[in-house]
Amino acid sequence: MGMDRIEIPTEEECYRLIREMEMLEHILSHSRLVCRVALYLADRIIEQSYILNRELIMAAALLHDITKTRSFETKEDHAQTGGELLEDQGYPEVGRIVGQHVCLEIFDKSGPPTEAEIVNYADKRVLHDQIAPLADRMDYIRKRYCKTQNQEARYRWLLAEAVALEEKLFRLAGFYPEDLAGLID
Ligand SMILES: [Fe+2]
Repeated sequence: MGMDRIEIPTEEECYRLIREMEMLEHILSHSRLVCRVALYLADRIIEQSYILNRELIMAAALLHDITKTRSFETKEDHAQTGGELLEDQGYPEVGRIVGQHVCLEIFDKSGPPTEAEIVNYADKRVLHDQIAPLADRMDYIRKRYCKTQNQEARYRWLLAEAVALEEKLFRLAGFYPEDLAGLID
């Protein structure tokens, strides 16, 4: 075992896990589009000479909602449990990204781009199975998940982070957020 070897599931292994977890069809469609958005953005940023691990982004994006179907029943925190599930499967690096897909652990707006940032942002541009402006997706999150004052405060913080993240990633990618949908088609 190499010291700096990262274990990443292949696309086929991702789909095996998706079947095992009986992911609902609409969550799978969402995840596939999040994956396309994440890889598109990653490729534009890589073209600007930044280093990002595409395979890691692909797997984490496809699997980011791996425990979401189950969470409808259990009410578990699907970001946290998804991260734990992937760690248990032998993919801790993928798990760390999945664990941060709702809320980043660290965000350095002037640091180099990270795989966790790309997946987190891509998920915030896909509303169900359509590419949407960040504001629309965030509005959906607010309406669906903010029931208490505490959640409202957390949401405002999340929104500010998402806006700063969008600025950072598109400064690096060299195109405009509103052009994303047309570029991916
Ligand atoms: Fe999610």
